[in-house]
Order: sequence, then structure tokens, then C-alpha cells
Amino acid sequence: MKLYIIKIACVSLSTMDWGMQNRLAKIIHPEDGRCLMLAVDHGYFLGPTERLEVPRRAINPLLPYADSLMLTRGILRTSVDPKCDVPMVLRVSGATSIIGEDLSKETITTSIEEAIRLNASCLALSIFVGSKYEHQTLANLAKLVDEGEKYGIPVLAVTAVGKEMARDARYLRLACRVAAELGAHVVKTYYCDNFEQVVEGCPVPLIIAGGKKLPELEALKLAHDAITHGAAGVDMGRNIWQSDWPVAMIKSVQAIVHKNADAEEAYGLFLEEKESDKSSQKERHKVVRTTVNQSMPFD
Ligand code: R5P
Repeated sequence: MKLYIIKIACVSLSTMDWGMQNRLAKIIHPEDGRCLMLAVDHGYFLGPTERLEVPRRAINPLLPYADSLMLTRGILRTSVDPKCDVPMVLRVSGATSIIGEDLSKETITTSIEEAIRLNASCLALSIFVGSKYEHQTLANLAKLVDEGEKYGIPVLAVTAVGKEMARDARYLRLACRVAAELGAHVVKTYYCDNFEQVVEGCPVPLIIAGGKKLPELEALKLAHDAITHGAAGVDMGRNIWQSDWPVAMIKSVQAIVHKNADAEEAYGLFLEEKESDKSSQKERHKVVRTTVNQSMPFD
């Protein structure tokens, strides 16, 4: 608790413009310094990921409970109602695919003018520290921060971890610190043992990815462990919308993030809520499955 309050205080005391502070406050709530971001950007390199085949169908029932939505411009334009008042975290890096040469070979795919036109509250970009294209992705981040600073739009750096790399505190604290040094306003990473070391070395708020689908109680434990070890929140995707009860799941994650519920309390809520979760994926997804339950290379 102490750690991230200090971070938010540092952020507000900085020389940030009003616009930058205002947008950041939409992503990380100033009342509690916490954040529940719903990630639906997986298609940018995975294509139609299981249970995100029809994005609108997965997104709509979850929107009322998300603090923000992380997605690409294509899914924003086609699958989200423009009257929606949920802040958008626009993924602006990519141009690679799961069957291509190297996932780390990302470039910036969306201009700052386009991000402004789409009323993005934050820009998201992946960095691949230690990969073949490390330099290229870090240079992308530095450039994006320059652009974001010019127009008052914060940047979320996503620390993507190659399959061959150990996802441990030693690696993640390096990747997160590098992201913060290059000017990222928020960093997304993975929860790991000794996570507090990752938090300690990163002077901006850290949020965690959910990773591959886990049984609901385990996913809630992951979220709770991350929060209690200093994460400002979650940027969770598959563990919410791949659940058979996605609304019950997001409400339970929300209880951990914003209501200080522990994992068991949140799971109790999940069991109650799933009875009334009309968004049950089994019902809604009557499409013939052509996708498999992909594991992402970063899992
Ligand atoms: C990864 O590059 C994507 O940005 C995902 O949004 C991210 O991994 C979070 O989703 P999940 O909780 O499914 O891991």
C-alpha cells in the first residue's frame, strides 16, 4: 500500500501538464491509486483469440466494470460504441504476427494524430528487453514518450518476455526499470516471486498482466498477491473473458483491486455472481471454434 501511494504522489508532484495528469487519473484512480484495465488487444498478433473471436460480444458486458480498455484502433473503431465513456488505452505497437519471423520486431503502428483523433487516454507499446530487436523496441518507446509528452498523453510500456527468457524478478526489474528510465508513465509486467524488488526498482506505477487462463481462484490469488506486493492494479484479459462467467470474474477482480477484498472473499463473490452472469460464454459463443486456446509466447 505504502509503496504505490508514494508513487502516485510523485506523479502528481511532478511537472506534468494538466492534460497528462487528467488522462493518467482516468487510468489509475487517484482515490486509491489503483487500476483495473481490461486487455482485449490480443488479436494484434494472435488473430481471433479464443473467446475474443467477436470482440464486441466479449467487450460489451464487461465495459461497465472496467476502469479502462486496452485495445488496437481497429477493434476500437469496429467494436466499441463511441458513446462509451470508458477511457481507452490504445495499443500503438505491433506489425508482427504469431506466424511471422520474430515477434520482437515491432514498430509503432498508429500515429499520435490518430491517437488524439480516437480520444485515447493512454498509449501502449511493447518492449522486448534482451531480444534480437531490443534496441528497436526501446527506441520506439523513447519516441512515443516524446510524442505523448508533446500532447499530454501518458505511455504504458508493456514488458514482453520471450519464451526463452526467465520471467523472474532479476529480468523483470531490469525491463521495468529500463521502461521507466525511457519515460514510460506506467509499466505493465508479470507477477513473479520477489515482486516487491521489481516494484522497488521502478519509479512509476506497475500493473500486471493476467497471463494464460487459470482456474478462477488462482487468477484471483494472482491479482491479490500482485496488489499486496505493490502493483497498482491489473491489465487482465484472458482470465476474465475466457472464463465461462466473465462478468462474475471482472466483478471479483474489481473487489480485489478497489475494495481490498482478499482472494477468498473475491472468490466467494465470484461464486455468488456466476449464478446471475447472463453473459455466460458458453451461451454467447455459439460460433464453431476454429481457434485453439493459444498460449501466448509471453506466458
Ligand atoms: C500482450 O502483449 C497483450 O498486451 C495483453 O493485453 C496482455 O498480455 C494482457 O492480457 P492477459 O491478461 O491475457 O495476459
